[in-house]
Amino acid sequence: MTEPLSPESLARPSTFARPADVYDLYARLRRDAPIEKAEPRGYRPFWVMTRHEDIMAVERDPATYAAGDRTVLLPEKVEAIYEAKYGDRNGVKPLTHMDGSYHRAHRSVTMDWFGPKNLRKFEPQIADIAREFVDRMEDFGGSCDFSADIAYWFPLRVVMTLMGVPKEDEAHVLRLTQRLFSPADKDLKTQAGEKAQAGGAGGSRDVFAEFGEYYQALTDDRRQRPRDDIISTIANGTVNGCPMAQREMTSYYVIASTAGHDTTAASIGGGLLGLMQFPEQLAKLRADTGLLNSAAEEFVRWTAPVKHFMRTPREDVTWHGVDVAAGEAIMLCYPSACRDERVFPDGDRFRVDRPGNPAHLAFGYGPHFCLGKFLATMEIRAFYAELLPRLKHVELAGEPSYIESTFVSGLKTLPIRFRF
Ligand code: HEM
Repeated sequence: MTEPLSPESLARPSTFARPADVYDLYARLRRDAPIEKAEPRGYRPFWVMTRHEDIMAVERDPATYAAGDRTVLLPEKVEAIYEAKYGDRNGVKPLTHMDGSYHRAHRSVTMDWFGPKNLRKFEPQIADIAREFVDRMEDFGGSCDFSADIAYWFPLRVVMTLMGVPKEDEAHVLRLTQRLFSPADKDLKTQAGEKAQAGGAGGSRDVFAEFGEYYQALTDDRRQRPRDDIISTIANGTVNGCPMAQREMTSYYVIASTAGHDTTAASIGGGLLGLMQFPEQLAKLRADTGLLNSAAEEFVRWTAPVKHFMRTPREDVTWHGVDVAAGEAIMLCYPSACRDERVFPDGDRFRVDRPGNPAHLAFGYGPHFCLGKFLATMEIRAFYAELLPRLKHVELAGEPSYIESTFVSGLKTLPIRFRF
């Protein structure tokens, strides 16, 4: 028998391989203990926040709640290594780890580039990449692992193309990413063609420095010959009139090249699972592809691939009668907010025509609201706009499995049978 989950379980990567149990835990916490302390071994204690309204209130109050103090949950061992290496326990310094005017100045470097007006230019290119991957699926000839064979690779190709990373370097960048984040899930590394190995925070080689070295050559190139790509935008971006500091620039490359693929892949894969589990929704979407906009949002709400970010109150606060002292971090559980019955009375149901209001929180909220939201939904729409007219039949061909990660998790494998 599997043990029941507790708030402490949210620090254990294997917990997220049991999504039904996690949603059950979230529901219990929302009902009985919407702010609850977790004290898992090997981690500094933290508070768990599960209600939609509360998470939104924290996110819209950056003056009280800092993002940069303790941004994501890390084992104390890893925090100590980061502190020794970089002088703070977070390690990297991307947008998610910044606050105030410092954050705004860095975010504004790429804000327009990630905006709908600019990204619409790339719609035809993204549609071509979607066709390439649906063709690849067709080549599997009637059965494949939709997550590992297709959904995992499509957003990676899109992001690398928009970054401006040469195609022959994609595998290298992917390996660096996986070593940097050192996923607990050993199979992920083999998925990328690399055997599990020590790396990332605990490894002997400095992956962050390797990332920096790799992108340095591209930075130099784009400073000489700027193009319409993300690397050029970051390389030539200025903060208060000066080029970005090295650590911030490397972190920017890291977040831009990583934030968008496993997240979007989880929504594309999980979306197909939803369509198979709720066949009337597949029929509805097929009959009216005008629903692709709301469907893409629903794919993201229903899968909520980012499991948390954290915020740290700068002063003592009280939530539901419970005192949280200044400096004690709060874990914002986005998947829980996305299924909060106060906001989504039928939140477990997958509905391609779900109205857009009120907002789901799978992309966060407030000043750190996901910069890649438009890109992610554009990719999902492009993929399904290509797939649905060609897909005559699809069914599950085995048990799906999930990535073991406390941060970004979704389907790892999705065996399907299909007919084109
Ligand atoms: C931030 C989710 C796709 C780039 C975030 C945050 C979440 C999130 C929850 C933090 C928001 C907060 O703290 O309030 C997702 C999901 C995605 C996705 C679920 C796909 C389904 C992408 C893509 C990109 C991207 C495609 C770009 C290539 C970023 C960046 C930030 C961010 C740069 C930091 C923004 C800041 O701190 O100012 N995302 N994301 N994301 N995301 Fe995404």
